[in-house]
Amino acid sequence: MKGIVLAGGLGSRLHPLTKVTNKHLLPIYHKPMIYYPIETLVGAGIREILVVTGGKNAGEFLRLLGNGKEFGLRHINYTYQEGEGGIAAALALAEFFAEGEPVCVILGDNILESSIAPYVDNFRKQKSGSRILLKEVNDPERFGVADIRGGKIVRIDEKPRIPASRYAVTGVYMYDAEVFDIVKGLTPSARGELEITDVNNYYIDKGILEYDILEGWWTDAGTFESLLRASNLVAQKMRLDSSAGAEV
Ligand code: DAU
Repeated sequence: MKGIVLAGGLGSRLHPLTKVTNKHLLPIYHKPMIYYPIETLVGAGIREILVVTGGKNAGEFLRLLGNGKEFGLRHINYTYQEGEGGIAAALALAEFFAEGEPVCVILGDNILESSIAPYVDNFRKQKSGSRILLKEVNDPERFGVADIRGGKIVRIDEKPRIPASRYAVTGVYMYDAEVFDIVKGLTPSARGELEITDVNNYYIDKGILEYDILEGWWTDAGTFESLLRASNLVAQKMRLDSSAGAEV
């Protein structure tokens, strides 16, 4: 399975922080944001990784990440998204890289406490279709929200005013190779973007979208509130890890 980190877009919700740098290079406690999704993929045993980036500072990713030695990788692949066409538009740029293999996609601003290895293993067993990760949250209206009936997701609503559940769709998505054909059939949403939620609803309609409920905390980091929350959660985890280490 190949890994794709989507770190395009312009990060306009974080102006002026993102006026002169890319959102995914901002600090989350002691590391740049982009480190976390890469570590999440590597932690699930994924060694072939593509970073999709964009904006005016794309070159900085290469300076920061190089060939991925710091992550135990021999090589990192890069590509460039022009503008802010949406998450699915960024994913479309990865078709050449996937070469017909299944992919594990993670949004560049998603930070997770725990390993996704068990869920990636579940998808490996599943063979085809797609698999997403859900997390119960207090503010579902900020996310894609799953409508679950009889243990199956029947629909995902993107940022609904009245959420069907408290289960947010996190930014970790696993797809078979058909995903690139699905993206080609999408039309832009009201906000002018190709939506990943439309991709997921396509798989739901075909009855081949599975899910897991994520263990541990999860956050995005695309607003001032969530950026601060992400740093606090990482700092707290580091403190807990070091006190657990001291007790041994
Ligand atoms: O974090 C999970 C949520 O992410 C999901 O629950 C939503 O269903 C999904 O649409 C997405 O919502 P956001 O509004 O938070 O997405 P945002 O526009 O902030 O983009 C998140 C990341 O996706 C961003 O850090 C980089 C990547 N991206 C986004 C856009 C719009 C791209 O690579 N290219 C893009 O054009």
